Amino acid sequence: MVQRSAAMSNVALKDNRQVTIRALVESDRAALTEFGLSLPKDDLLYLEEDFTNPEIITRLVNASFAENWRQMVAIADDGSIAAYASARRVPGWSNHVAELRLLVKPGWRRCGLGMQMAQAIVEAARDLGAQKVTVAMLAALKAGQAIFSRLGFAVEGQLTRHAIDRNGDLHDVVIMSAFLKV
Ligand SMILES: CC(C)(COP(=O)(O)OP(=O)(O)OC[C@H]1O[C@@H](n2cnc3c(N)ncnc32)[C@H](O)[C@@H]1OP(=O)(O)O)[C@@H](O)C(=O)NCCC(=O)NCCS
Repeated sequence: MVQRSAAMSNVALKDNRQVTIRALVESDRAALTEFGLSLPKDDLLYLEEDFTNPEIITRLVNASFAENWRQMVAIADDGSIAAYASARRVPGWSNHVAELRLLVKPGWRRCGLGMQMAQAIVEAARDLGAQKVTVAMLAALKAGQAIFSRLGFAVEGQLTRHAIDRNGDLHDVVIMSAFLKV
Protein backbone atom coordinates (compact mmCIF):
# COMPACT_ATOMS: atom_id res chain seq x y z
CA MET A 1 0.00 0.00 0.00
CA VAL A 2 1.24 3.50 -0.76
CA GLN A 3 1.50 5.99 2.06
CA ARG A 4 -0.48 9.15 1.45
CA SER A 5 1.60 12.24 0.72
CA ALA A 6 -0.87 14.86 1.88
CA ALA A 7 -0.43 18.54 1.26
CA MET A 8 1.59 20.54 3.78
CA SER A 9 0.79 23.98 5.00
CA ASN A 10 3.04 26.35 6.91
CA VAL A 11 1.11 28.22 9.54
CA ALA A 12 2.15 31.29 11.56
CA LEU A 13 0.63 31.29 15.05
CA LYS A 14 -0.52 34.26 17.13
CA ASP A 15 2.78 34.27 19.06
CA ASN A 16 4.77 34.29 15.77
CA ARG A 17 5.92 30.68 16.08
CA GLN A 18 5.51 28.60 12.95
CA VAL A 19 4.41 25.01 12.40
CA THR A 20 3.91 22.80 9.40
CA ILE A 21 0.57 21.01 9.31
CA ARG A 22 0.67 17.77 7.35
CA ALA A 23 -0.52 14.17 7.41
CA LEU A 24 0.93 11.80 10.01
CA VAL A 25 3.42 9.41 8.38
CA GLU A 26 5.04 6.19 9.54
CA SER A 27 8.32 7.90 10.35
CA ASP A 28 6.53 10.08 12.95
CA ARG A 29 6.46 7.17 15.43
CA ALA A 30 9.20 8.57 17.73
CA ALA A 31 7.80 12.11 17.61
CA LEU A 32 4.27 10.85 18.35
CA THR A 33 5.60 8.81 21.27
CA GLU A 34 7.32 11.91 22.66
CA PHE A 35 4.11 13.93 22.09
CA GLY A 36 2.04 11.39 24.06
CA LEU A 37 4.49 11.34 26.94
CA SER A 38 4.50 15.15 27.09
CA LEU A 39 0.75 15.44 27.71
CA PRO A 40 -0.26 16.49 31.22
CA LYS A 41 -1.82 13.92 33.53
CA ASP A 42 -5.12 15.80 33.40
CA ASP A 43 -5.34 15.33 29.62
CA LEU A 44 -4.39 11.68 29.92
CA LEU A 45 -7.26 11.15 32.36
CA TYR A 46 -9.77 12.22 29.76
CA LEU A 47 -8.36 11.08 26.45
CA GLU A 48 -10.13 8.25 24.71
CA GLU A 49 -6.85 6.87 23.39
CA ASP A 50 -3.95 6.32 25.75
CA PHE A 51 -1.18 8.24 24.02
CA THR A 52 1.38 6.91 26.50
CA ASN A 53 0.77 3.33 25.36
CA PRO A 54 3.30 2.21 22.68
CA GLU A 55 0.69 -0.17 21.20
CA ILE A 56 -1.71 2.73 20.66
CA ILE A 57 1.07 4.78 19.04
CA THR A 58 1.80 1.85 16.71
CA ARG A 59 -1.91 1.56 15.85
CA LEU A 60 -2.13 5.27 15.06
CA VAL A 61 1.05 5.30 12.97
CA ASN A 62 -0.06 2.18 11.06
CA ALA A 63 -3.42 3.86 10.43
CA SER A 64 -1.65 6.39 8.22
CA PHE A 65 -2.29 3.77 5.52
CA ALA A 66 -5.99 3.29 6.35
CA GLU A 67 -8.63 4.27 3.81
CA ASN A 68 -11.17 5.42 6.43
CA TRP A 69 -8.83 7.47 8.61
CA ARG A 70 -6.97 10.77 8.22
CA GLN A 71 -4.50 11.98 10.82
CA MET A 72 -2.84 15.39 10.80
CA VAL A 73 0.06 16.65 12.87
CA ALA A 74 1.58 20.08 13.42
CA ILE A 75 5.37 19.88 13.24
CA ALA A 76 7.50 22.43 15.08
CA ASP A 77 10.86 23.72 13.82
CA ASP A 78 12.71 21.14 15.94
CA GLY A 79 10.73 18.29 14.35
CA SER A 80 8.57 17.64 17.42
CA ILE A 81 4.79 17.26 17.19
CA ALA A 82 2.90 20.25 18.62
CA ALA A 83 -0.62 19.00 17.83
CA TYR A 84 -2.50 15.96 16.54
CA ALA A 85 -5.94 15.65 14.96
CA SER A 86 -7.80 12.80 13.35
CA ALA A 87 -10.93 12.13 11.32
CA ARG A 88 -12.22 8.58 11.11
CA ARG A 89 -15.23 7.38 9.17
CA VAL A 90 -17.64 5.37 11.27
CA PRO A 91 -18.40 1.84 10.03
CA GLY A 92 -21.96 0.65 9.30
CA TRP A 93 -25.02 2.83 8.80
CA SER A 94 -23.15 5.96 9.83
CA ASN A 95 -20.53 5.46 7.15
CA HIS A 96 -21.11 9.02 5.91
CA VAL A 97 -20.03 10.35 9.33
CA ALA A 98 -16.44 11.06 10.44
CA GLU A 99 -15.50 11.34 14.09
CA LEU A 100 -12.89 13.96 14.91
CA ARG A 101 -10.21 14.20 17.61
CA LEU A 102 -8.06 17.20 18.42
CA LEU A 103 -5.16 17.56 20.82
CA VAL A 104 -2.65 20.38 21.25
CA LYS A 105 0.51 19.99 23.32
CA PRO A 106 0.66 22.27 26.37
CA GLY A 107 3.10 25.04 25.59
CA TRP A 108 1.44 25.37 22.19
CA ARG A 109 -2.04 26.18 23.49
CA ARG A 110 -3.83 29.54 23.30
CA CYS A 111 -1.98 30.65 20.19
CA GLY A 112 -4.49 29.55 17.57
CA LEU A 113 -3.07 26.12 16.78
CA GLY A 114 -6.19 24.27 17.98
CA MET A 115 -8.30 26.34 15.60
CA GLN A 116 -5.89 25.74 12.68
CA MET A 117 -5.81 22.00 13.33
CA ALA A 118 -9.61 21.86 13.65
CA GLN A 119 -9.96 23.53 10.24
CA ALA A 120 -7.38 21.16 8.74
CA ILE A 121 -9.08 18.06 10.09
CA VAL A 122 -12.52 19.15 8.91
CA GLU A 123 -11.00 19.53 5.42
CA ALA A 124 -9.42 16.09 5.78
CA ALA A 125 -12.85 14.67 6.72
CA ARG A 126 -14.30 16.26 3.59
CA ASP A 127 -11.49 14.68 1.57
CA LEU A 128 -12.43 11.37 3.17
CA GLY A 129 -15.92 11.77 1.69
CA ALA A 130 -17.68 12.42 5.00
CA GLN A 131 -20.98 14.30 4.83
CA LYS A 132 -21.20 14.86 8.56
CA VAL A 133 -18.54 15.36 11.22
CA THR A 134 -18.93 14.81 14.94
CA VAL A 135 -16.68 15.47 17.89
CA ALA A 136 -17.16 14.24 21.44
CA MET A 137 -15.56 15.88 24.44
CA LEU A 138 -16.04 16.22 28.16
CA ALA A 139 -18.72 18.81 28.86
CA ALA A 140 -16.38 20.52 31.31
CA LEU A 141 -13.73 21.19 28.63
CA LYS A 142 -14.85 24.49 27.15
CA ALA A 143 -11.91 25.24 24.84
CA GLY A 144 -12.77 22.47 22.36
CA GLN A 145 -16.42 23.51 22.38
CA ALA A 146 -15.42 27.12 21.65
CA ILE A 147 -13.29 26.02 18.69
CA PHE A 148 -15.89 23.77 17.08
CA SER A 149 -18.79 26.16 17.62
CA ARG A 150 -16.69 28.85 15.90
CA LEU A 151 -16.41 26.45 12.96
CA GLY A 152 -20.19 26.12 12.80
CA PHE A 153 -20.65 22.95 14.82
CA ALA A 154 -23.78 22.70 17.00
CA VAL A 155 -24.28 20.73 20.19
CA GLU A 156 -26.25 17.66 19.19
CA GLY A 157 -26.55 16.15 22.62
CA GLN A 158 -25.10 15.60 26.03
CA LEU A 159 -24.58 12.15 27.49
CA THR A 160 -24.77 12.04 31.26
CA ARG A 161 -21.89 10.42 33.18
CA HIS A 162 -20.84 8.82 29.91
CA ALA A 163 -17.05 8.92 30.33
CA ILE A 164 -15.06 7.33 33.10
CA ASP A 165 -11.56 8.60 33.72
CA ARG A 166 -8.61 6.58 34.91
CA ASN A 167 -9.46 7.53 38.53
CA GLY A 168 -12.93 6.01 38.14
CA ASP A 169 -14.71 9.40 38.16
CA LEU A 170 -17.67 9.89 35.80
CA HIS A 171 -18.08 12.85 33.42
CA ASP A 172 -20.75 14.18 31.06
CA VAL A 173 -19.86 14.12 27.36
CA VAL A 174 -20.96 16.69 24.79
CA ILE A 175 -21.42 15.66 21.14
CA MET A 176 -21.06 18.43 18.57
CA SER A 177 -21.64 18.04 14.87
CA ALA A 178 -21.71 19.80 11.52
CA PHE A 179 -22.83 18.83 8.03
CA LEU A 180 -20.32 19.22 5.22
CA LYS A 181 -21.34 20.44 1.79
CA VAL A 182 -20.58 17.71 -0.76
C1 LIG B 1 -9.01 22.15 23.13
C2 LIG B 1 -7.60 22.43 22.62
C3 LIG B 1 -7.39 21.59 21.35
C4 LIG B 1 -7.49 23.93 22.28
O1 LIG B 1 -6.25 24.16 21.64
P1 LIG B 1 -5.60 25.64 21.54
O2 LIG B 1 -4.49 25.55 20.59
O3 LIG B 1 -5.34 26.16 22.89
O4 LIG B 1 -6.83 26.46 20.90
P2 LIG B 1 -6.75 27.91 20.22
O5 LIG B 1 -5.56 28.67 20.71
O6 LIG B 1 -6.90 27.74 18.76
O7 LIG B 1 -8.05 28.57 20.83
C5 LIG B 1 -9.20 28.83 20.04
C6 LIG B 1 -10.29 29.37 20.94
O8 LIG B 1 -10.72 28.39 21.89
C7 LIG B 1 -11.06 29.05 23.12
N1 LIG B 1 -10.18 28.55 24.17
C8 LIG B 1 -8.95 28.00 24.02
N2 LIG B 1 -8.47 27.62 25.22
C9 LIG B 1 -9.41 27.94 26.14
C10 LIG B 1 -9.51 27.78 27.53
N3 LIG B 1 -8.52 27.19 28.23
N4 LIG B 1 -10.64 28.21 28.15
C11 LIG B 1 -11.64 28.77 27.43
N5 LIG B 1 -11.61 28.95 26.09
C12 LIG B 1 -10.51 28.54 25.46
C13 LIG B 1 -10.88 30.52 22.89
O9 LIG B 1 -12.10 31.05 22.45
C14 LIG B 1 -9.87 30.55 21.80
O10 LIG B 1 -9.89 31.69 21.02
P3 LIG B 1 -9.11 33.02 21.47
O11 LIG B 1 -7.72 32.59 21.84
O12 LIG B 1 -9.18 33.89 20.25
O13 LIG B 1 -9.85 33.55 22.65
C15 LIG B 1 -6.52 22.09 23.69
O14 LIG B 1 -6.81 22.81 24.88
C16 LIG B 1 -6.44 20.62 24.02
O15 LIG B 1 -5.72 19.88 23.35
N6 LIG B 1 -7.20 20.15 25.04
C17 LIG B 1 -7.25 18.73 25.42
C18 LIG B 1 -8.03 17.86 24.40
C19 LIG B 1 -9.40 18.40 24.04
O16 LIG B 1 -10.15 18.88 24.89
N7 LIG B 1 -9.75 18.29 22.72
C20 LIG B 1 -10.99 18.84 22.19
C21 LIG B 1 -11.96 17.90 21.61
S1 LIG B 1 -11.44 16.35 20.95
